[in-house]
Amino acid sequence: MRINIAIDGPAGAGKSTIAKLFARKHGLVYVDTGAMYRAMAYYFLSHEIAPEDEQAIAAACEGVVITISYEDGEQQVFLNGENVTGIIRGEAVGKMASATSVYPAVRKKLLELQRQLAKKEDVVMDGRDIGTCVLPDARIKIYLTASPKTRAKRRFDELTAKGVACNLTEIEHDMIDRDNRDMNRKEAPLRKAEDAVLIDSSALTMEEVIAAIEEICRGCREYMHREEERGKTVL
Ligand code: DC
Repeated sequence: MRINIAIDGPAGAGKSTIAKLFARKHGLVYVDTGAMYRAMAYYFLSHEIAPEDEQAIAAACEGVVITISYEDGEQQVFLNGENVTGIIRGEAVGKMASATSVYPAVRKKLLELQRQLAKKEDVVMDGRDIGTCVLPDARIKIYLTASPKTRAKRRFDELTAKGVACNLTEIEHDMIDRDNRDMNRKEAPLRKAEDAVLIDSSALTMEEVIAAIEEICRGCREYMHREEERGKTVL
């Protein structure tokens, strides 16, 4: 039986950093589903397909093959055989991913890939609809959020550290826009699954969030059994 952990939440809540660290610490595979939507978005952008043109997007989906592999435990995303992991991280691709992930054709393309990955390995999968739609039977579900101000400041610091010029107010504005779209779309909107535990990371360090997730895992018999089998005492 697979022990999967689903982490959902809005942009900038710290999902990917936390999920990656947690997966490494506990010997699970980290699956970043946002990167898959970004790879699709990158394809639409490079083929100059407008985000409003649902028909063109649905038709373009036919020509896209997304695959995933792991290098030193890091997820690599391939778009029609090309490794696009590095070039999909920018704000423009993120915006396009949010705008085009509303379409059923785009979601259908990635849902099966995500479910197959979770069937093969014990995963920590992060995204927007993991607990509600992709893995409704995940043993552990987390809804990780933080205030828009905190999330925008984290993103601002991240970009500034990379030497990217940016504006805090603009980032916050874009984030609120993206949340609204992700939460209010018809297909698999972002929302907390009924059986997910909410963690607000606004006033927490990364270590504190990980400790909170570990505490939740302690309440899951199957998860503890898995840790015992691995001979680990981290929990
Ligand atoms: O997590 P991220 O910023 O890389 O995600 C980019 C966009 O992809 C996000 O705004 C909405 C979409 N997405 C989605 O619809 N469902 C997911 N499971 C993951 C991401």
